[in-house]
Amino acid sequence: MSLYLPNKVTLIKIIEETPTIKTFVFKPHVSFSFKTGQFVELTYPGAGEAPFTPSSSPNKKDEFEVTIMRVGRVTELFHNAKEGEVLGVRGPYGNGYPLDDFKGKELLIVGGGVGLAPLRSLIYALYARINDFKKIVICYGARSPQDIIYKYQLDEFKDQTKVEFRLTVDRAEPTWKGNVGIVTTTLDKLPIDTKSATGIVCGPPIMMKFVSLKLLELGFAPDKVYLSMEKNMSCGLGKCGHCRLGKYYICKDGPVFKLQDIKDMWDIWD
Ligand SMILES: Cc1cc2nc3c(=O)[nH]c(=O)nc-3n(C[C@H](O)[C@H](O)[C@H](O)COP(=O)(O)OP(=O)(O)OC[C@H]3O[C@@H](n4cnc5c(N)ncnc54)[C@H](O)[C@@H]3O)c2cc1C
Ligand code: FES
Repeated sequence: MSLYLPNKVTLIKIIEETPTIKTFVFKPHVSFSFKTGQFVELTYPGAGEAPFTPSSSPNKKDEFEVTIMRVGRVTELFHNAKEGEVLGVRGPYGNGYPLDDFKGKELLIVGGGVGLAPLRSLIYALYARINDFKKIVICYGARSPQDIIYKYQLDEFKDQTKVEFRLTVDRAEPTWKGNVGIVTTTLDKLPIDTKSATGIVCGPPIMMKFVSLKLLELGFAPDKVYLSMEKNMSCGLGKCGHCRLGKYYICKDGPVFKLQDIKDMWDIWD
């Protein structure tokens, strides 16, 4: 079968997260599984496809979820799709998070905006083997309270003995009782040893840049900071060159990279 040919998936549920973000629940017609952090090419038949990272648990085999922010033509198509429609999926592609390397470590997970989507999948995977990790700190920043995704689940994420969850918004109305400030403001006084801890970051490029700089300032080693990189993609298979980042193809060598391996590339944050 052609590597470019998508498999059918039925859209069984749509969850409105924010005015611009929806989570889509798909039932694959043929068996489908992924490693947390890998991405798929989701196809709107006859109209286009785009890469997304599943936001659901990799341990869930009968369904998977993708959380999509509406930014342009293809994401608009998905946002207008209706429950019951049959779409397509290619993949999964890329490397995903090296869960075994995180074993025995203190982990700091930092998400910005829709960047919490791949991290939710990671969080599910970590919680499924929580005894493997020493401590997990999750910091999530959204633009405003109405831009927070998975609001209905955040208490569940917090309700774990080894986990500390920090939430902030860039700006808020007077009724907001939580933190206000960009996500880097949640990174002070971390209850972990930053010299030996592992950092995992996903969000818009500007957020990843400033969080990476802050983690280095806090003493994180660049080979213990993992970034989920995004670039325009086409084939997803390391063949077309659209996703080149220096000597790497994001679709094949990533999308998860160690900061150590990419920090000196001039176009890393473009
Ligand atoms: C590996 C990977 C995983 C991704 N996972 C998710 C996810 O889980 N959820 C999600 O909502 N999005 C995710 N994206 C981004 C998503 O693929 C793009 O938003 C989508 O391709 C935009 O398509 P479009 O036709 O709607 O927008 P276009 O019409 O192509 O572009 C509209 C605007 O969005 C910008 N844009 C396009 N692609 C990207 C991109 N990859 N990153 C940042 N800005 C972009 C363009 O520069 C333009 O300003 C991921 C991208 C990659 C590469
Ligand atoms: S998307 Fe074609 S080489 Fe990566």
